[in-house]
Formats: sequence, C-alpha cells, structure tokens
Amino acid sequence: MIVGAGRGIGRASAGLFAEAGASLVLASRTEQELTELAFDLERRHGAPTLAVRTDATNSESVERLVGEAVRRFGHVDTLVYAAGAGVLKPFNETSEEEFTQLLDVNVKGAFLMCRAVLPLMEKQKRGHIIALPGILGRSPMAQAAAYCASKFALTGMLKALALETKRFGVRVSLLHFGGVNTSFWDQITMRVQRERMLTVEAAARAVLFAATQEGEGVLGELILQPESHQL
Ligand SMILES: NC(=O)c1ccc[n+]([C@@H]2O[C@H](COP(=O)([O-])OP(=O)(O)OC[C@H]3O[C@@H](n4cnc5c(N)ncnc54)[C@H](OP(=O)(O)O)[C@@H]3O)[C@@H](O)[C@H]2O)c1
Repeated sequence: MIVGAGRGIGRASAGLFAEAGASLVLASRTEQELTELAFDLERRHGAPTLAVRTDATNSESVERLVGEAVRRFGHVDTLVYAAGAGVLKPFNETSEEEFTQLLDVNVKGAFLMCRAVLPLMEKQKRGHIIALPGILGRSPMAQAAAYCASKFALTGMLKALALETKRFGVRVSLLHFGGVNTSFWDQITMRVQRERMLTVEAAARAVLFAATQEGEGVLGELILQPESHQL
C-alpha cells in the first residue's frame, strides 16, 4: 500500500514494486493520477492494482482505504507512507496555516495510516511500515523550521512505534533522503539546484530495497544523499 502514490517518490516506487511482482494499493487525493498509474501498471506489469482516492489527514478516508484494500486483497503486508508536503521559508514568514498543513499531512496522516493498518499487521504477526522523514527529519536546516518540526515529529513517533511493534513482528523503516527532484519542489520558492538532487528513480530503488529486506534484521534507518551533500 503506497500512500502518496500519485506523484514523486511514491509513484516511482509503485512502478518498481509492480515490476517486482507486488499487488498494489495506490492512494492519494488526485484520482486521475491514481487511475492513470493503476492502468499503466496493470498494462505493463500485469500488477493487480487498486486505486483509492484518499486524504491521509482524514480518518474516515483512511479507514475506507484500508477497508477496500482488505476486501480486495485480504491483507496489507507493507505500508509506504510517501504522502507529504514542504514549506521552506524564513521562520517569520511561515503562516499558521502552513505550519498546521505540514503537521497534518507529514505527521497526522502517518499516524492515521499506521493506526489503521496496525491491527491487521499485528493479527498477521508480520508487516512493514516505511516512512520518509528525509534528512530534515534528522538534521535541521535554516528556513525549514516548520518542515523540520513535522519531520522530527514523524521520526520520533515512528521510533516510539517501532518499540511497541517489535513484539508483533511489525518492522518500521525510516528513510532519510536528501533532496529528490520531484513535484515536491514545484511550489518551493527557496533557490535550489534540482539538477543536483537525487533522481526519483534512485529514491524509489531505496524504498524497494527497504521493503524487500528479509530475515531477522530490520532496516531501521537509511540515509541517501546526493553526491554534492555526502556526509
Ligand atoms: N522530494 C524531496 O526532496 C524529499 C526528500 C526527502 C523526503 N521527502 C519526503 O518524501 C515524501 C514524498 O515526497 P515527494 O517528493 O514524492 O513529493 P510529491 O512529488 O509532492 O508527491 C507527494 C504525494 O503525496 C500526495 N499527498 C499529499 N497530501 C496528501 C494527503 N493529504 N493525502 C494523501 N496523499 C497526499 C500527493 O498527491 P495529492 O496532492 O494528489 O494528494 C502526491 O502524490 C514526502 O513526505 C516528503 O516530505 C521528499
């Protein structure tokens, strides 16, 4: 199940998961992007695909998504929470609405999604939650106070969740990408060099890598930076 599958990292990941033989549930708010993607993945890879228009910040919408997924496939093995939004601007220019919007989609949406799939995963005694706090969910950056607040919150929430879920065989992976050249940056006025960012394909390969780790180890965190920003 990929939430935020309509564009960007979620969409590219959906392509790689389909190629790898997965059955897919695709969710985001823009129905046309989802239905086009589902059609394309079924045609190119024969991937059984369910597209459900979903607002991850709305608990009824989230419950409907998980209900439809269970009716179609009977279970949810992996949740990739790739929905998100960014506001990168000076602290004093960040509006209350922008702050609330970031907290809503970057944190509350992840909370609602995890809460909706966890009972299934606990019953199955297996499951995997993958989220994308990004490098700014780990290290702060100037002009990113509201975004960092949301992404540090996501990191903290999911690390706490991982301590609870390990008893039930549910894995939690946090992926910390540096800049990825996606539609995320279309609305951002801060000057950035998109051509030097990670490609969306590189980010999607890391999502697939995290999702396909097997055995006793858990990939807790992964950092992937553009070459220009190596640690
Ligand atoms: N791009 C980067 O540089 C970068 C780096 C590190 C981490 N990240 C994180 O990675 C995640 C994905 O980023 P991206 O670059 O792929 O962004 P993107 O290209 O803007 O795609 C975001 C996706 O999330 C969906 N979405 C947004 N709000 C939603 C909501 N309320 N409910 C359901 N779906 C929603 C969008 O579709 P709709 O608008 O149609 O709903 C879209 O499909 C984000 O959490 C971002 O913070 C990004």
